[in-house]
Amino acid sequence: MAPCRRSVDLYDRPVARVFSGIQPSGDMHLGNYLGALRQFAFDQYDHDAVFCIVDLHALTVPQDPGELRRRTLEAARIHMAAGLDPSVCTLFVQSHVHEHAELSWLMECTASVGELRRMTQFKEKADKASDQEFVAAALFTYPALMAADILLYEADRVPVGADQRQHLELARDLALRFNHRFGDTFVVPTAAVPRVGARIMDLQRPTEKMSKSVISPQGTVGLLEDAASIVRKIRRAVTDTEVEVRYDPQAKPGVSNLLTILGATTGEDPERLARRYHQYGELKADCAEAVVALLEPIQARYAELAADPAGTAAVLAEGVGKARAVAAPVLDRARAAVGLLPR
Ligand code: TYM
Repeated sequence: MAPCRRSVDLYDRPVARVFSGIQPSGDMHLGNYLGALRQFAFDQYDHDAVFCIVDLHALTVPQDPGELRRRTLEAARIHMAAGLDPSVCTLFVQSHVHEHAELSWLMECTASVGELRRMTQFKEKADKASDQEFVAAALFTYPALMAADILLYEADRVPVGADQRQHLELARDLALRFNHRFGDTFVVPTAAVPRVGARIMDLQRPTEKMSKSVISPQGTVGLLEDAASIVRKIRRAVTDTEVEVRYDPQAKPGVSNLLTILGATTGEDPERLARRYHQYGELKADCAEAVVALLEPIQARYAELAADPAGTAAVLAEGVGKARAVAAPVLDRARAAVGLLPR
C-alpha cells in the first residue's frame, strides 16, 4: 500500500503525514525510545507514517563500514520491535532513496552559512573536536539534509526529542523561504516533542543527554541490554548528597532524570511521582523495574526478527518503493521551481 497524501480517514478528512528519522550511528538507547521511537508507534495508526534509518547522516562522523551495515539492519529491526508495523507505515533506509541527497543540495542553496553556524549541535561537536581532529564538512551541512528528509515527504508532523527542535525550526524556515522565493512547493512541518521524556539524561553525567556515543557506557541504557545490566546501571545512577526526592532538573538533575524515566515509562507526571518516594533507593528500584518491563517485549520481538534476516530485507525493499512514490514527485516539483530542466 503506497502512502498517499490524498488518503482520507473515515470522516473524509485528509490524513496528516508524519515523518521521522534515527541515525544508525551507535547502539540505540532509552532516550531514543522515550523521546522518539515510542511516538512513532502511536502515530502510525492515524497518520500516513514514514520512518527512515538515516544512514547518510551517520557518515558525518567516521564509521566502520561493516558496523554501519550491521547497525542499519539492527535499527530497522528495533523500529519494528518497538511496534512499527510495515503493513501500516513505511520504513526505509535513507541512502536507498537518492532523492534525499539531491534535495539536500537545493536546501544547502537555500540555507545561509550564518544559520548553519548557529546550530547548537554543530557548535558542540565542532567545539569538542581538538585542533588536529578531522571535522567533516557534512557535519556543518547536516541540517540541510535533515530538512530535505522532512520536506520530501510533505510531513506535517515530525516526532523528535528536544535536541532536534532547532533543526526542525531550520527545516520550517527553509520551507517557508523556498516557498516564498519559488512559489508553494513544500509543506511546512511542525515538531512533535513529548511532554515527558523529550530529554533523557546520562545516568552518570545527568547534566548531559544520554547519547549513542561510547563516551559513557555506564550512563546509557541500551534498548537491547540485558535486564541485570540495566538494573545495575540504574542502581548506580548518580544522584546527589541530599535525601529528599524532588523533581527539580536544575538543582537535582540525577534524581529528576530518574523521575522522568519512571514517569515516561509508566505514563505518570514526574513531579507527582516524586511525592510518593522518601528514599533514592526505592525510586531507583522502581525505575529499574519499570524500564526492564518496558524493554522486555521489545527485546523478545527483536530476537524473533533477528532470526529472519530475509524478512527485514523484504520490509526495507518494499519501503524504498513506497518512499520513492512520495519523494520523487516532490523533488521534481522543487527542481522545476528553481529552474532545472526536466530530465
Ligand atoms: P538521533 O539519531 O540522534 O536520535 C533519534 C531520535 O531520538 C531522540 N533522542 C532523544 N530523546 C530523548 N532523550 C535523549 N537523550 C535523546 N537522544 C536522542 C532525537 O531527538 C531523535 O528524535 N538528526 C536526527 C536524525 C534525523 C531526523 C531527520 C529526525 C535525520 N533526519 C528528519 C527527524 C526528521 C538525529 O541525529 O537523531
